[in-house]
Amino acid sequence: MYLTGEEEKMLEGEHGEVIERMFRLLVRLGDIYGADKMIPVGSVQVAGVSYKSVGDPGLEFLQDVANKGAKVKVLTYLNPAGMDLEAWQEMGFPEEFARKQLEVMDAFGRMGIITTATCTPYLAGNLPRFREHLAWSESSAVSFANSVISARTNREGGPSALAAALCGVTPNYGLHLDENRKPTVKINIHDDVNLDYSADFGALGYFVGKQVKNKIPYYTGIKEANTNHLKALGAAMAASGAVALYYIENLTPEAHLMDAGGLETIEVTKADLEEVYNTLNCDKEEDIAIFGCPHASLEEIAGLAKEVEGKTLKKPVWICTSRMMKEAANRMGFTEIIEKAGGKIVADTCMVVSPIEDMGYKVTAVNSGKAANYLPGFCKQEVVFNNIKSLIKEK
Ligand code: F3S
Repeated sequence: MYLTGEEEKMLEGEHGEVIERMFRLLVRLGDIYGADKMIPVGSVQVAGVSYKSVGDPGLEFLQDVANKGAKVKVLTYLNPAGMDLEAWQEMGFPEEFARKQLEVMDAFGRMGIITTATCTPYLAGNLPRFREHLAWSESSAVSFANSVISARTNREGGPSALAAALCGVTPNYGLHLDENRKPTVKINIHDDVNLDYSADFGALGYFVGKQVKNKIPYYTGIKEANTNHLKALGAAMAASGAVALYYIENLTPEAHLMDAGGLETIEVTKADLEEVYNTLNCDKEEDIAIFGCPHASLEEIAGLAKEVEGKTLKKPVWICTSRMMKEAANRMGFTEIIEKAGGKIVADTCMVVSPIEDMGYKVTAVNSGKAANYLPGFCKQEVVFNNIKSLIKEK
């Protein structure tokens, strides 16, 4: 692999032991995937933030890096943490867990990382430009960046993203290259398919991800979809499969440059989505409903506030979002409306990376195909999957 003079210096330890270690990791990755060089990244998003997933070994590693004074070179955000970093006490997060989680955040902060913990960085101040190279980790954010913004990122692991943040570069392979960004399967949505709610897009993504695994789908037949729908679709495809890039005819920015002629075609009918709803539902009554996977936009929070205004909710309702969206929701009075109804806006975390199984919940209702996919395995939850309207129940 070609390395610049500066990169040679990083490799030879002239920028300190941490940078040498991190740069070696990037070179090794590049060698494995046949990268010709390193490329500068515009921003980084690091996963492996919840203490639930990193544990003590992860915390010690991060503290070691921070103690040695390493600092990030580019705008770097974090994936959701294991709890609301401000309201953890009143929400009943376990004390010992909280202490460790705050230590994780402190280590990231000392590296110069923006300690906002969200899987929708593009809604919270880290918006890449068209065709910008990135090193992002979280699968739904990777999908959104590649597909909806047409920026370019592989799905990084926590360590490789951190290495890219500290070195400012990533190896040039995979989805950074034009030749690897061509669609490989066509998905045709039949006219009878209803795509009214984010949950419908989640169900579609769940169905398609399962079928296509890590292929690059090119959709036809989707007539309209907003940002919320697209983030739900991409998240579900990345969870049930490993889709990191998709195109939608007439909707996503580079779709018109792609040739989907002659590709294997998967037809999706109303019956297919009904089958997904049946598969993902456990037929029990939920203990809690949690929305905001991926993290809710302000528009989604406003919609929920409207939905619950003046009602008394039968079961606890959380809506997960970034700290920035929560601040805006506070200012707009949405938080007050939701809290009056008995719900909560939960920032910095989500239903999958927080320890909800230790908080007494066994059946969780969601409107997200991704959350429905992960909750049984990650949080020992049984799942109710439906759209927000159906899941808001009054006492
Ligand atoms: Fe985000 Fe958690 Fe869903 S990280 S995409 S809200 S599982």
